[in-house]
Amino acid sequence: MPVIAVINRKGGSGKSTVATHVAASLARAGQSVMLGDVDRQQSSRAWLRRRSRIDAAQAPPIQGWIVDKSSVARPPAGVGHLVLDTPGGLTGFELARLVMWCDAILIPVCDSRFDRDSAAACHEELAALPRVANGRCKVGVLGMRVDRRTRGHAALESWAAEQGMDFLGSLRDTQLYVHCADRGLTVFDLPAAKAAADTEEWKPVLAWLEKAAAAAPKPPAPDAAPRAVAPPAARTHRVALSTPSTLEAHVSELSLSGVAKPGFWGALRRLLGR
Ligand SMILES: Nc1ncnc2c1ncn2[C@@H]1O[C@H](COP(=O)(O)OP(=O)(O)O)[C@@H](O)[C@H]1O
Ligand SMILES: [Mg+2]
Repeated sequence: MPVIAVINRKGGSGKSTVATHVAASLARAGQSVMLGDVDRQQSSRAWLRRRSRIDAAQAPPIQGWIVDKSSVARPPAGVGHLVLDTPGGLTGFELARLVMWCDAILIPVCDSRFDRDSAAACHEELAALPRVANGRCKVGVLGMRVDRRTRGHAALESWAAEQGMDFLGSLRDTQLYVHCADRGLTVFDLPAAKAAADTEEWKPVLAWLEKAAAAAPKPPAPDAAPRAVAPPAARTHRVALSTPSTLEAHVSELSLSGVAKPGFWGALRRLLGR
C-alpha cells in the first residue's frame, strides 16, 4: 500500500488542504483510500465527518484513520492508499518514525522567505533519514497560493532545484479551497466548469504521486518464500530489506546506515518496550 504524507513544519502552509485533495483524487479514481490525521487539530478528521454527510456520488467516500504522532504504528492493512495529514512542527524522532512508512512526501510551501527557509530546514531533516536518502521515499514540493504566471512561481521552482527537491507546480490562491474545506469537499468534487483551472494545476502533482506509488515496494504474496536479505556492503552500511514490515527492520536499517549512535537505538527500543 503506498503511503503518502504531507509534511511541513509551518502551520497554515496547506498540509490539510493537500492531504484532503490527494485522498479525494484517489477516491475519485476508484481507489480505496484512507486519510490518517496525525495532527492534534484533527482538521482532516473533521473534514471527513463533513464529507460523510454528502452523497457518495458527489463526494466518493474516504475512510478515516486516527493516529497519534507519538504512536504511529504499522499502517492498517487492506487499503489501496494511505494519505497522512501531519501537524506543524513535526521533527526529530516523531518525524523519523512516521517517515519509516512513507513512499512519498509532499511539502506545500507558500512563497515567502520565511516559508522557504522553514521548508528547506524540513527537507534537510528529511533528506538525512535513510528511507529518503536511499530513494525509497520520494520528496516533492508544491507552491501554495502561488500564481503560476508570477515571478513567485519561477522563484519557487529555482529554489526547489537548488535544494534538490522535485518541484511539482503551484496551486493558485482561491477561495474555492476555503469553501471546499468548509463543506467536506475538494476542487475535484466541484462541477468541472467551476474548478477546471484548479484541477489542471493538480495534474503534475498527481502524476508525480502515481509514479512514486508505482515504485513503492509491493507486499509479498502470502505464500511467497522468504527472500534473502543481502549482507551490508563493507562501507555503505545499507541493508536491502525487501519489505519493511516491522519496526525492528527499520531500526536495523537506521542503525546500519550510521544515522544514529548505537546507544540511541538501545534507548529507542527500551522506550518502545521492545
Ligand atoms: N490554494 C489556496 N488558496 C486559498 N486558500 C487556501 C489555499 N490552500 C489552503 N488554503 C487555506 O489556508 C488555510 C490553511 O490551510 P491548511 O491546509 O489548513 O494548512 P495546514 O494544515 O498546513 O495548517 C485554510 O483555511 C485553507 O482553506
Ligand atoms: Mg492542518
